[in-house]
Amino acid sequence: MKINENFLKIQNNYLFSDIAKKVAAYKEANPSADLIRLGIGDVTRPLPEAVTEAMKKAVEEQETVEGFRGYPPEYGYDFLRSAINRNDYAARGVSLSDDEIFVSDGAKSDCGNIGDIFSVDNLVAVCDPLYPVYVDTNVMADRSGVLQNGLWSNFHYMPCTAENGFLPQIPDKKVDIIYLCFPNNPTGMSITKEELAKWVAYANANDSLILYDAAYEAYITSEDVPHSIFEIEGAKSCAIEFKSFSKTAGFTGARCAYTVVPHELKRGGVELNALWGRRQATKFNGVSYITQRGAEAVYSEQGKQQVRANIAYYQNNAKVIADGLRKAGFTVYGGVDSPYIWLRTPDDLTSWEFFDLLLHKVQVVGTPGSGFGPSGEGYFRLTSFGDSEKTREAVARIVSVFSD
Ligand code: MLT
Repeated sequence: MKINENFLKIQNNYLFSDIAKKVAAYKEANPSADLIRLGIGDVTRPLPEAVTEAMKKAVEEQETVEGFRGYPPEYGYDFLRSAINRNDYAARGVSLSDDEIFVSDGAKSDCGNIGDIFSVDNLVAVCDPLYPVYVDTNVMADRSGVLQNGLWSNFHYMPCTAENGFLPQIPDKKVDIIYLCFPNNPTGMSITKEELAKWVAYANANDSLILYDAAYEAYITSEDVPHSIFEIEGAKSCAIEFKSFSKTAGFTGARCAYTVVPHELKRGGVELNALWGRRQATKFNGVSYITQRGAEAVYSEQGKQQVRANIAYYQNNAKVIADGLRKAGFTVYGGVDSPYIWLRTPDDLTSWEFFDLLLHKVQVVGTPGSGFGPSGEGYFRLTSFGDSEKTREAVARIVSVFSD
């Protein structure tokens, strides 16, 4: 028996697991420490009442013979696929059929699992910094080559730094699979329709595939920023889109997301929709009825209002962080179309030095930019998903360290 040795190539644990361990060790050594966690992007507002009411009703249905549900359909219940289609696509002028939408337990799982349907031989392009799942899952699948100075030899990296406005440059050669995430995790920056159209044109011209992670689209406030890549003409023949109820409606614990694979999207004469359907039917058993009824309620009138209120709460936190740090002299990005604030570390500190300093001096937890890739070195990410009072307190604490 031999193991998949590609797993051994990934030297560190998953970034957020590493941070959780460091924080747990600190907490054990300092049990009375009043930690404020603005690290992993996990929401803190409770599920909207419309959602929990729908879930309760779904639970009660399970008590009756007529209402009981066994295995859910592996692609999602029709009621949810159709609600997603009407509200997230048709309402934005995008025409999809319900069977192009695959309901799942999370955008992280789908972003990771999608690689199953592609050959190992594809040239993968990724932004740097990036959500670590894109790289780690491709390392596991043997698409990476070897690690040299923090970069994998077989990937095409697209640095996103202050110098290029945190926008990746279109490759000057042919790449096969392109991961794009907008609004971006971790930089918090967004892309305009005009800029995204250039990627769609490139992908169609080069037979490339864009894997578009739009998990943070609910935070978009700018007019010219697309909520879906399918708002761009031509995207259906070159893109797969990942969306999630996690950051939109507080489902990080409840688990529900979806992936759109248009029928128009074909490679080698094969519809990727059929391949993904096959993959999901074999390896995934669907999301529970109760959770899907909760997700459907996100689109009710009440649900929409309650979701907007939660998002407004986090958007206000983002503003508090960005304004507070900027006023104190920090260089700050993101936070406008996104729940993430991306700041330059002061005094030439490395990302991890800054992390340790904040943890040990003022008990604030953030995420070191270098954990998202080499171009994240010298940056630091804070999330706006915390409690509003604690967020204000965290900003005051950070500022206090650098005020004299
Ligand atoms: C993050 O903090 O980057 C996200 O919460 C991670 C995730 O969504 O899996």
